Amino acid sequence: MLYRMEKKLRSQEWFGKKGKDGFIYRAWMKNQGIPSDEFKDKPVIGICNTWSELTPCNAHFRELAESVKRGVIEAGGFPLEFPVMSLGETLMKPTAMLYRNLVSMDVEESIRANPLDGVVLLCGCDKTTPALVMGACSVDLPTAVVSGGAMLTGKYNGESIGTSDLWRFSENLRLGTMSERDFEQAENGMCRSRGHCAVMGTASSMACMVEALGLSLPGNAAIPAADSNRKVLAQLTGRRIVHMVRDDMTLSKILVREAFENAIRINAAIGGSTNFVIHLLAIAGRVGIELNMDDFDTLSRDIPLLANIQPAGQYFMEDLYYAGGLQAVIKGAEDYLHKDCITVNGQSIWENVKDSRSLNQNVIAGADNPFRLDSGLAVLKGNLCENGAIIKLSAASATLINHRGRAIVFENIEDYKARIDDPELPVDETSILVLKNVGPKGYPGMPEVGNMGLPRKLLEKGVTDMVRISDGRMSGTGFGTVILHVSPEAAVGGVLDLVIDGDEIALNVSQRSLELLVSDQELERRRQTRRAGGFEANRGYIKMYVDNVEQAHMGADLNFLKGKSGSIVTRDSH
Ligand code: FES
Repeated sequence: MLYRMEKKLRSQEWFGKKGKDGFIYRAWMKNQGIPSDEFKDKPVIGICNTWSELTPCNAHFRELAESVKRGVIEAGGFPLEFPVMSLGETLMKPTAMLYRNLVSMDVEESIRANPLDGVVLLCGCDKTTPALVMGACSVDLPTAVVSGGAMLTGKYNGESIGTSDLWRFSENLRLGTMSERDFEQAENGMCRSRGHCAVMGTASSMACMVEALGLSLPGNAAIPAADSNRKVLAQLTGRRIVHMVRDDMTLSKILVREAFENAIRINAAIGGSTNFVIHLLAIAGRVGIELNMDDFDTLSRDIPLLANIQPAGQYFMEDLYYAGGLQAVIKGAEDYLHKDCITVNGQSIWENVKDSRSLNQNVIAGADNPFRLDSGLAVLKGNLCENGAIIKLSAASATLINHRGRAIVFENIEDYKARIDDPELPVDETSILVLKNVGPKGYPGMPEVGNMGLPRKLLEKGVTDMVRISDGRMSGTGFGTVILHVSPEAAVGGVLDLVIDGDEIALNVSQRSLELLVSDQELERRRQTRRAGGFEANRGYIKMYVDNVEQAHMGADLNFLKGKSGSIVTRDSH
């Protein structure tokens, strides 16, 4: 079936050409066995694939791509799959976040430079979702997302386990209360199927984010990777993207300010990852939507916790699916929703969820009976974080969120690793652990080390949480009273850089403040004697990153990538 397009297809600038140019554009494609009629007025759909055996969470994406292709063909489109750099959270050093912006450039340029009319983004492990969405936003073609889905729940010793349990296992191993053999048994049972982390870590939060923004079909967030319905969703997305091209339903028509507000509120209702903040800010920057740290605090403040998923709760992504999926959570949050926001299926977000309901109140609660009243992220301000810092309330200890303590300072992650278990470390449970130089420029790449493990001598005393402060990030699967994303970071001369052992720090989440209780005169004196110690890079992508990365409160994008260049190609060498 051929679509009658009201507007000329972008791909026809290549495939519709006559003479030498059209010959070149079509003839080399035909070496893949493509008949001539594929090039005639069919919407060309790019399938942007982050498949890689080095990204185990995305290792099943070739199959998903086949399902998308089937759907595109059924709807009369012409699918073309293309690879982009993939980011595997567990293997990449020094941190996958260092490369998020690089992938976004790869995606943006790959889409713009090629004869594509619409794109399906295959996203899975943490950074692939924001990277692909950011890149696609800077081109602004009709675009839909298919997430890879979470793994089945892990099993160990008769217990259900997920990534959040890793922190517990590793502390038990350090303490000697878990044997090496049991640790290995847990390792064998953690990842039982294809898919990404089985808890509400960053990957699941990103899958929820795209559904809440309206960038995926309903159901995308929670269908397990191993469930055949994941392939069905991919096929239906393939069908749908062809219609989106026909309707010229570009990303910027979906990504309006209200859609971002919906995503912030839903992230609070699910107890989503702290990484959500930095990624949503970066995406907003690409589409030109004004969004700042204060929006996250204001918009999440009154949102109750409706999903009981680890690390904020008890259950797993698989349970969320059986309990009604994200649609049931969104339905429960209806009082906080901009209901008219349009989504990729052409329906409003409300139309997509209005008939949903929780099938298990232990997993998805209604707003009248939530798991917690204060689910969201709080944004702190004060002399220690002039431009903001964040804390995840659903992961913090109620006894520590208003706390004063003396700082134990680590100048960098190596210093922390060398001294944290030193029996002479002058630390007790009231101390505040401060880690510097793990921000965007300082590390560089802002690794997930903010939820530093506690000193062994305190673990042995039974201490389970302490206030921890850094300019880094935390895994979406982590928990604790952990203050993250301190901006400005130490490496650019933030006050964080001036903290020394024994300084008193006051955390008051009720007042949203984080103060270093040291006089301005003393801070000025220290400033004269310290030199901010940013990472020095001489060449390559890392130099470009360090020279141009913005601070965490702006989304840590590269400054020259903000905004979009659109889909027009201005020069043609043929
Ligand atoms: Fe890929 Fe957790 S490691 S989602």
